[in-house]
Amino acid sequence: MQAQIEAILNEIKHFSFDSPETVEQFRLKYLSRKGVIPQMFDAFKQLPPDEKRALGKPINELKRLAEDILNDAKKSSVAANASKEDFTRPLHTLDLGSRHPLTLIRDEIVDIFTRIGFDVSTGPEIEDDWHNFSALNFPEEHPARDMQDTFFVEKNPDFALRTHTSSVQVRVMENQKPPIRTISPGRVFRNEAISARSHCFFHQIEGLYIDKDVSFADMKQTILYFAEQFFGKSKIRMRPSYFPFTEPSAEVDVYWGLKNEVDYRLTKGTGWLEIMGCGMVDPAVLTACGIDPEVYSGFAFGMGIERIALNRFQIPDIRIFSENDNRFLMQFAGL
Ligand code: PHE
Repeated sequence: MQAQIEAILNEIKHFSFDSPETVEQFRLKYLSRKGVIPQMFDAFKQLPPDEKRALGKPINELKRLAEDILNDAKKSSVAANASKEDFTRPLHTLDLGSRHPLTLIRDEIVDIFTRIGFDVSTGPEIEDDWHNFSALNFPEEHPARDMQDTFFVEKNPDFALRTHTSSVQVRVMENQKPPIRTISPGRVFRNEAISARSHCFFHQIEGLYIDKDVSFADMKQTILYFAEQFFGKSKIRMRPSYFPFTEPSAEVDVYWGLKNEVDYRLTKGTGWLEIMGCGMVDPAVLTACGIDPEVYSGFAFGMGIERIALNRFQIPDIRIFSENDNRFLMQFAGL
């Protein structure tokens, strides 16, 4: 039996695995239940004790070596198989994606307002004159229409790329009865010179609240709630402003503080950061949208998402948002 063990040792050491089938042939021949090695074990059990003592070690070593050879062959055949023959495997391993910073900011703002009962509304990016301007109290030929340098549709100037998401609020008011509590996030377009601070498209979130007895104080409290939740700041101020669709109108600043150099740069040394425009919905707008201003009142507000994201993430240039540069985008992975 000694000689037999050596012969088989020699055989398995030189066994050539030249295809995946030979791996299985090896297993069948040497290690399966009827294979050479298990059969030798059967014979081994019949031997007299002194021969057993002499052969125990070599026969066990043979078995272990055969198992090792089989395992190695299996592994390299799987690898060879995969790289040579599995054409369905993806060419590159897939990187985990990241959310766009503007999406992160939008979702956070949406979340803050949905917690206090606002729903989310959307509308078309190509708008008609009525929803973008006329219903919002922009008079015909009024310079306010130029205030928001509009991209008109060349073949039909009755249509334009919306300049703000206030157009969505008109659609909501036309189709819903008060109470209305909605926020409208979306992309808007203005024909502006492209620079580090402005682009010809950007994103807004506007809010609208209409019910009986809605007052300026309700608006202020709602915006204060937002400032607390989003910026972690508890002081805001309102400065008189003008929008055709609200009266009175205001710009809202949040008190940022002046603790360090970044605060100085961000607030131009004032300690105040401008975050949004707002106002009480003009009665003419309510009437245009079929809501009786004698019964209902409301407020609206609107903010730019890019501006907030630049500030939140300390990004120096608005153009980076639309360049799709992976080195930039991957920094937001996991957020
Ligand atoms: N629509 C305004 C803008 O685009 C923002 C705004 C919305 C202001 C609602 C007041 C009320 O600048």
